Amino acid sequence: MTGVLPSHRGRGIAMALKLATIAYGRQHGYSEIRTWNETHNTGMLAINERLGFTRQPAWITFEAALEPGCAP
Ligand SMILES: CC(C)(COP(=O)(O)OP(=O)(O)OC[C@H]1O[C@@H](n2cnc3c(N)ncnc32)[C@H](O)[C@@H]1OP(=O)(O)O)[C@@H](O)C(=O)NCCC(=O)NCCS
Repeated sequence: MTGVLPSHRGRGIAMALKLATIAYGRQHGYSEIRTWNETHNTGMLAINERLGFTRQPAWITFEAALEPGCAP
């Protein structure tokens, strides 16, 4: 997870962290990086797309509560 304190956002810190991760991968011979993004997180989506990540088919997460009286 990439995270920057609210007081420090908008200064390129997340972009720098992601670039450092990519450089690490290259230096160590990795051929692929995968990342996951919440669909409404426009900030992180913008960063990942600027870095060249391409969108893949979306996963939808389902949840069912198993409390007494709840379906199913
Ligand atoms: C998302 C997050 C990491 C961005 O950190 P940041 O240091 O402010 O991001 P940067 O300054 O490196 O932004 C780089 C570029 O991303 C884009 N960007 C960043 N935040 C954006 C936003 N809220 N909306 C749209 N674009 C955004 C901009 O294009 C920016 O480039 P620019 O400054 O040239 O315009 C930060 O908002 C955060 O910690 N959020 C909470 C945690 C989180 O959601 N993490 C991601 C989990 S997947």
